[in-house]
Amino acid sequence: MTSPEALSPEEARAELERLASRIAELDEAYYRDDAPLVTDAEYDALRQRNAEIERLFPDAILKNSPASRVGTAPSSAFAKIRHRVPMLSLDNVFDAEEFAEFCARARRFLNLPASPRFVAEPKIDGLSISLTYENGILTRAATRGDGMEGEDVTANVRTLRDVPQTLHGEAPGFIEIRGEVFMSKAAFLELNETQARLGQKIFANPRNAAAGSLRQLDASVTASRPLALFAYAQGESSAPVAETHWDYLARLKEWGFIVNPLSELIEDENAAAAFTTRIATERSTLPYDIDGVVFKIDDLSLQRRLGFVGRAPRWATAWKFPAEQATTVLEKIDIQVGRTGALTPVAHLQAVNVGGVLVTRATLHNEDEIARKDVREGDTVILQRAGDVIPQIVSVVLEKRPDSAQPFAPLEHCPVCGSLAVRPPGEVVRRCTGGLTCEAQVVERLIHMVSRPAFDIDGLGEKSIIEFHRDGLVSGPADIFRLPTREEEIARRDGWGALSARNLSQAIEARRSIPLDRFLYALGIRRIGETNARLLARHYGSFTEWRTQMLAARQIGSDERLALGSITGIGPTIAEELVDFFAEPRNIDTLDELAGMLTITSPSGGLSSAASDSPLNGKTIVFTGTLQAMTRPEAKARAEAMGAKVTDSVSKKTDFVVTGTDSGSKAKKAAELGIRTLSEEEWLALAGEG
Ligand code: IVH
Repeated sequence: MTSPEALSPEEARAELERLASRIAELDEAYYRDDAPLVTDAEYDALRQRNAEIERLFPDAILKNSPASRVGTAPSSAFAKIRHRVPMLSLDNVFDAEEFAEFCARARRFLNLPASPRFVAEPKIDGLSISLTYENGILTRAATRGDGMEGEDVTANVRTLRDVPQTLHGEAPGFIEIRGEVFMSKAAFLELNETQARLGQKIFANPRNAAAGSLRQLDASVTASRPLALFAYAQGESSAPVAETHWDYLARLKEWGFIVNPLSELIEDENAAAAFTTRIATERSTLPYDIDGVVFKIDDLSLQRRLGFVGRAPRWATAWKFPAEQATTVLEKIDIQVGRTGALTPVAHLQAVNVGGVLVTRATLHNEDEIARKDVREGDTVILQRAGDVIPQIVSVVLEKRPDSAQPFAPLEHCPVCGSLAVRPPGEVVRRCTGGLTCEAQVVERLIHMVSRPAFDIDGLGEKSIIEFHRDGLVSGPADIFRLPTREEEIARRDGWGALSARNLSQAIEARRSIPLDRFLYALGIRRIGETNARLLARHYGSFTEWRTQMLAARQIGSDERLALGSITGIGPTIAEELVDFFAEPRNIDTLDELAGMLTITSPSGGLSSAASDSPLNGKTIVFTGTLQAMTRPEAKARAEAMGAKVTDSVSKKTDFVVTGTDSGSKAKKAAELGIRTLSEEEWLALAGEG
């Protein structure tokens, strides 16, 4: 990779464009999908390169620079804070025997004649935080990060009610206090309800919700989320504050912190098991999730002598509980129909409390999973909730199976529209073939269409779509954009009113203009997620061009079909989904009706001026053979940054074929079609590297 110093201003601009779009893609995967595409180190390296180029070429800084982006909070958007004392984790034990071994190890290490005293505290399922106070005033708050370095979340933490801004009473001039930020079960369920109403991200469990709420670039979002804190440990301190952990907890309370009220002094190791058993029985009635009990040797001088092994102290351990289980009756296996017709079996259960959360449903994933566990309607089943709200079915209690219980038979027809339901060979999912005649698919598509990464219509979430559809206000996509003409009718609806109806109309009007990539995503075509929608939008550039090309691509073997399948990242399977969509005349009608009500603009994150001036702008280019000076991905990125489209196979539409060493059939095809081929040297010259 060219070092930042060696870049020309044009190259710097192109590189910043490339970095911005790559970082946005990675952020999306990490924050929205919880599915990171690269390691943290690789991600950080990209951000560092971006920062370095911005420093050297301040004129080239983009308006949407990753360095200034607000919204999803990339970890590196927070300043790093190095912990003066590392924030460690705890080793686990799972039963009395393992706990006895932990005690024996500590006693051997210290040559103690008798068991030391312990403090026991519930192990809260949240995220740990370090709070620094200087002269009694909160000056810094950091997440644990990798234990050595965390993120500076001071502004966010200042909005937490349980965090004192100043310490009450006497305290050392410098002191770092540690504790757990968490969200109560009730607050978590309420937050998810609000999120669902607004069509926004649903959190899987209270811990995720707490972490997501704390790591917000906009502190007012954190302030609106009900986060709580229990204080439980010390970091660096300019003067000692206690001789025992128990006394330290008392000081924390004096200073204004909340210490978990269930914490207790445990006289010796024999008393530990009784405490654990008691907390385990109280667990489901506690207002917050816990996953065990932490035992800490009380005497701080013993703690100092014991020190650490690896990343965990020798003076503390976590006695972990098993996942929370409950037994109930599975009343019915229901089949849900998704946006693309996927049929998902869902278990309807006799309501049961699993770890303090009332559960009435569990996912059964697919028909193979049901067969594997031999789950039947009427069965008594064991459920398990491991922090998450949706439980899993662990097993069936066979002794309780009613004689009448029948094995689950996969449906041959869609339960909503009655169309044939098919399971293609090699796939686990069965699908309804009804397409737009299936009401379930229609509603799911509408919900998808208004969701955040698509049209992002404020105030129009899942619940409203279901109701509007039920009452005939929207039956297809275009009806969304007719809602403003029915504002008065909406205002009269239950739970609405003039103001919210007005706001909805405005939110809809504001989205009549939409970038092509979002529009393509909003269509909800199978396998066209945000990334593929962006690839298509970049490749075709305009709605009209895309539409024309797709219609032509219906012809098997056509140039347009070949070109579609050879867009890097698209490939034949995705091409087929698009062609299938265009093979259905009603889809085209729906598409045209919708498009007619909108202004579809060029893809978001358009080309830089460097790209539009470049000789490659708008050209289609194929790389073949081995390049010496740069890898294939780098060559591709370079060409795209200069406005070119890179495809995998040669067709009439190809403008250039760059031939490295050992280029075979593609070079031959180019020659046959009379397409200009470039040597690596010629390509480098074009790319500004020659
Ligand atoms: S003490 C060196 N006390 O558990 C000991 N940790 O597995 C530092 N946790 O990262 C931790 N409740 O996030 C301690 N009462 C408690 C805790 C607790 C929850 C979390 C904490 C830590 C993790 C270690």
